[in-house]
Order: sequence, then structure tokens, then C-alpha cells
Amino acid sequence: MGRPRLPLSAQVGAHFPPRTPRSARLVFMMDPVDRAEMALSLGEIDPDTPSPARIYDFWLGGSHNFAADREVGRRTAEAMPQLPVAARANRAFLGRVVHHLVADLGVDQLLDLGSGVPTAGNVHEVARAANPETRVVYVDVDPVAIAHARTLLEDVDGCEAILADLRNPGAVLDHPLLRTTIDLKRPVAVMMFAVLHFIPDDGSPELIVRDFMDAVPGGSYLAISHGVPDVHDPGAQQDAARSYAARTGIPFIARTPEEVGRLLGPLKPVPPGLISIDEWMPDPLTTPRDNPLAYGGIAQKG
Ligand SMILES: C[S@@+](CC[C@H](N)C(=O)[O-])C[C@H]1O[C@@H](n2cnc3c(N)ncnc32)[C@H](O)[C@@H]1O
Repeated sequence: MGRPRLPLSAQVGAHFPPRTPRSARLVFMMDPVDRAEMALSLGEIDPDTPSPARIYDFWLGGSHNFAADREVGRRTAEAMPQLPVAARANRAFLGRVVHHLVADLGVDQLLDLGSGVPTAGNVHEVARAANPETRVVYVDVDPVAIAHARTLLEDVDGCEAILADLRNPGAVLDHPLLRTTIDLKRPVAVMMFAVLHFIPDDGSPELIVRDFMDAVPGGSYLAISHGVPDVHDPGAQQDAARSYAARTGIPFIARTPEEVGRLLGPLKPVPPGLISIDEWMPDPLTTPRDNPLAYGGIAQKG
């Protein structure tokens, strides 16, 4: 299916105000149309302002990050050295969940909210290994993440990337690229991995979840991962969160497993439930068992 071309700048959320363009590094490998779209959005990319998407990419060992992101990544990990391992554990968990959703639960439409910078084991690659017809929409508020996703998806029919803020569910759900890719009358798996812990309670994360799940039919799923308090070293986690927030302006809210469960509202957890991600269908060869920093699982709308 041909993809409507929307300038990225037309999709940008209000908290990415125009800034002085400073980087042209990203445009090298893009085709002329993407380059034109990027030119419109470069004003919103400030390589000196660290972003959660690119810091996470750094922890995962990716290359789509700037010096400011690496500095925050290093400083935060000084306070909490297991963070890069925790990021990889989360990414591995995401892969296991996507495989289960598609291969075992029969889902063929995925809406990945807070999708991040493309990396090894992207959602559409894992999903399509199980069912090549799976349709995927990636959504992120970070223009670098979406620019790279769109480059990657250039020749991939049925998969799109949208620059948008999940705190505005209506804008995501009404987006033309979502509407032409996902049929909201059929079951969808809505994914929120390692993103709701950036939304404080006064941002009403449970209402965000509710709005997305209200828009999809019964039989749909919510798949989630979320940071939990570090019971072994709460001081280190608080230091890391403070350091991260001071440099990014973005809070990290570790919620208890009970609080994460409440975000699900009336959705019914499916086996093995909402548990430590390391215990969720672990891969005996690759899943670390000493790192319970996040809870996650799948829940279904009745
Ligand atoms: C830690 S990364 C997780 C990436 C991916 N979901 C994963 O688990 O591997 C968090 C992502 O959420 C994105 N994000 C944070 N707040 C967001 C918002 N309000 N709307 C959309 N994306 C957001 C960040 O830009 C970043 O890419």
C-alpha cells in the first residue's frame, strides 16, 4: 500500500517547540523524500538535549545517539550500574511478548506506543517471523526515533511510524497513517513498553491506557512493561532517577507491582500474568534472573 507522505513537522507534539537546527548528520542515508521531511523536522532535533529514546539506544549498544545522550547514560549508570542490563532485559522481554502475541494468541495488528529507536529485534521483524501479514504502527515522540523507523520501513508494506505523543490518544488514534494501517474494528495488541514510568500520576497514565483500550474491540490485548522499585538498593535507584531527571527534565516513576496492575483497569491478565519480566516465559539461554527491575505482561479486553 502506498504511504501518504506527511511532513514530520506536522505531527510534532507541543513539547517539541522549534529550535535552531544544529545537526545534519541524520540525513545521510535517507532518500530525497525522507530528507525533505527531515529538513522540516530538524528544527525540532536538538542533539544537545538528551532524550530517553536515544539514552535507551545507548544502553542497548545502538549508534543512534548523541554525546549528550551518552553522557546522561553514563552518569545515570554510575548511580545504578545494572541499568544497561535492565534495558537489554526489557528489550528481550518485548521480543518474547511479541512472539507470544502473534504466534500463540493470533494477533496480527500491533500498535507500539513509545516504540524507541529501531534496534535489533524490531517488533515488525519478530512479529513477521511468526506471521508475515502482521501490521505494525510504531509511535514515538522522539523525531530521531521516528526518522530512523521510517527509513527502515520505507519498503515494508503494512508497517508505519508516527511522530506523536501518547498522552494525546485521540491524535494517535485519528492519525491517517494509523487509520490506513490498522483496522480498529479488529483486535489489536496495544504495546506500552518502558514508557508509562515516564508519566507521573498527575499525567493520569491509567486514563491514557483506558482511552487506547476503549478504541479497540473486545479480544484486544494490552502488553506492558514498567519499572518497579529496586528492593535491594532503593537509594541507588533514587539517585539514578534524580540524576536522569536533572539532565533530561523527565521524571522516572518506579511503580509497585500493585500500582502497575491498577494501570490495567478492568483488563484481565493472561497467563503467566503481570510478573517480573525475567520470570515471564524466560528463555533459559538468554534471560537474566538476577535483575527484577521491571514488571510486565499481557492483559486482555473482555
Ligand atoms: C525506554 S524507551 C522504550 C522503547 C521500547 N518501547 C522498548 O521497550 O524497547 C521509551 C520510549 O518512549 C518514548 N516516549 C516517552 N514519552 C513518550 C510520549 N509521551 N509519547 C510517545 N513516546 C514517548 C521515548 O521517546 C522512548 O523512545
